[in-house]
Amino acid sequence: MKRKSLSWIIFVVSVAVVIVSAIYVIYFGAAATQEDISLTTQSEAGVSRVIVVRNDEPISPIAKPTTLDRRAVELGVAIFHDPRLSHDNTISCASCHDLVAGGVDRLPHSIGVGGKEGDINAPTVYNSSLNFVQFWDGRAKDLAEQAVGPIHNPIEMASNWAEVLPKLNADSDLVAQFKSVFGAPPNEENIIEAIVAFERSLVTPSRVDRWLLGEDDAITAEELEGYRIFIRHGCIACHQGEGIGGNLYQRFGIMHDYFDDKRTIINSDFGRYNVTKRDDDRYVFKVPTLRNIKLTPPYFHDASAATLEEAVARMGLFQLGVEIPAADIEKIVLFLQALTGEELEQ
Ligand code: HEC
Ligand code: HEC
Repeated sequence: MKRKSLSWIIFVVSVAVVIVSAIYVIYFGAAATQEDISLTTQSEAGVSRVIVVRNDEPISPIAKPTTLDRRAVELGVAIFHDPRLSHDNTISCASCHDLVAGGVDRLPHSIGVGGKEGDINAPTVYNSSLNFVQFWDGRAKDLAEQAVGPIHNPIEMASNWAEVLPKLNADSDLVAQFKSVFGAPPNEENIIEAIVAFERSLVTPSRVDRWLLGEDDAITAEELEGYRIFIRHGCIACHQGEGIGGNLYQRFGIMHDYFDDKRTIINSDFGRYNVTKRDDDRYVFKVPTLRNIKLTPPYFHDASAATLEEAVARMGLFQLGVEIPAADIEKIVLFLQALTGEELEQ
C-alpha cells in the first residue's frame, strides 16, 4: 500500500515536471526566436558578423572524440563486421546496423540467425555512446553491457562465448592483432572493449552542430525556423541535449493513449515495464536520439510510422496533444534532416 502511494506521488511529480518544462521551453522558444530575428537583420544590414557560440540553446553540439585508441577502434570495426559472432556464421552486428544505411537495417523488425524475426525496430548505432542507457527499455546500462546482448539473443546471433571464442582464436591473423593491441588473444573483455571503442567513434557532427558553434550559414533559414518551431511546440522537452534525445525515459502516449487503439499489443510494447515490472513504467521508452533520423526509417519502437512527417504528426498528437499544422511539420522535418551527420550525407 505504502509503495503504491509512493509510486503514485512519483508519477504525479514527473507529470508536473514535464508540464512545467513544456511551459518553460514554449516561453524559451519564443524568446529565442526574437533574438534570432535581430541576428539575421544585423547580417542583412551588412554589419560585420560576430561569431556567437550558442551556449544558451537546449541542444548541444557534439564533436568526434579525439582520445580513442585508433588500433582498438580498427579492431572494433573488424569485430562489428564479423559473422563468426553468430551461431551459423551468417550474421554480424553490421547485418542489422548497416553503417552505410544510417546504422540500421531499415526493416520494421530485424532478421537474425535462421531468418528469425525480432519484435522491435533496430535503433541506430551512430551516437549510441551519447545515450544514458542502451536499448529502447534501457535494460543495458552502457555499451559494454549492451554488446553481450545480441551475441546471446536466440533471435539475433544465437550464440555464446563458448562458441565464439574458439572460432576467433582459430584465426591466427586476428589473434596476432589482438595480442598486439590488447596484449592478449581474443577474450570476452577485449572483444567488448574493441566493439565499444568502435562505437564511441561513431559520433556524427551535423551542420546543426556547426551552427551551434557559431557558424550562421551552416543551416538554412528554413531549417532554423524548423528548429524554432520544434522548440515552440515543446518537442525539446523530451528531445534535447547532445543527442537531441537519449537522455531520459518517457511514456509513449502522454496526452493520448497510443496503445488504446493499437492493433495487438505485443511484449515489446510494454517498454521499461519489462525491466522494472512497475505499472508506471508500462509503455515507457528511452526517448530516442533524433540525430541521423532521416536515414533510419521506419520510425518508433514498433516501426509504425513510415515517414518522418507521419512520425512528427504522431508525436504532436500523442506527446503534446496538438495537431501540428502541415506547414510546421514540413519545417520541423527540414530541421530534423539537417541533423544528419555530414560524413553520412550522400
Ligand atoms: C538481428 C539483428 C541485430 C544484430 C545482429 C545486432 N543488433 Fe544491435 N540491436 C538490434 C535491435 C532490434 C535493437 C533494439 C533492441 C531493444 O531495444 O530491445 C538493437 C540495439 C542495439 C543498441 C542500442 C542502441 C540504443 O539506442 O539503445 C546497440 C548499441 C547495438 N544494438 C549494437 C549492436 C552490436 C555491437 C551488435 C553486435 C555484437 C549488434 N547490435 C547486433 C538488432 C541487432
Ligand atoms: C513527452 C516526451 C516527448 C515529446 C514532447 C516528443 N517526443 Fe518524440 N519521442 C518520444 C518517445 C518516448 C519516443 C519513442 C516512442 C516509441 O517508439 O515508443 C519518441 C520518438 C520520436 C521519433 C521517432 C524516433 C525513432 O528513432 O524512431 C521522432 C521522429 C520524434 N520522436 C520526433 C518528435 C517531435 C518532432 C516532437 C515534437 C512535435 C516530439 N518528438 C515530441 C518522446 C517525446
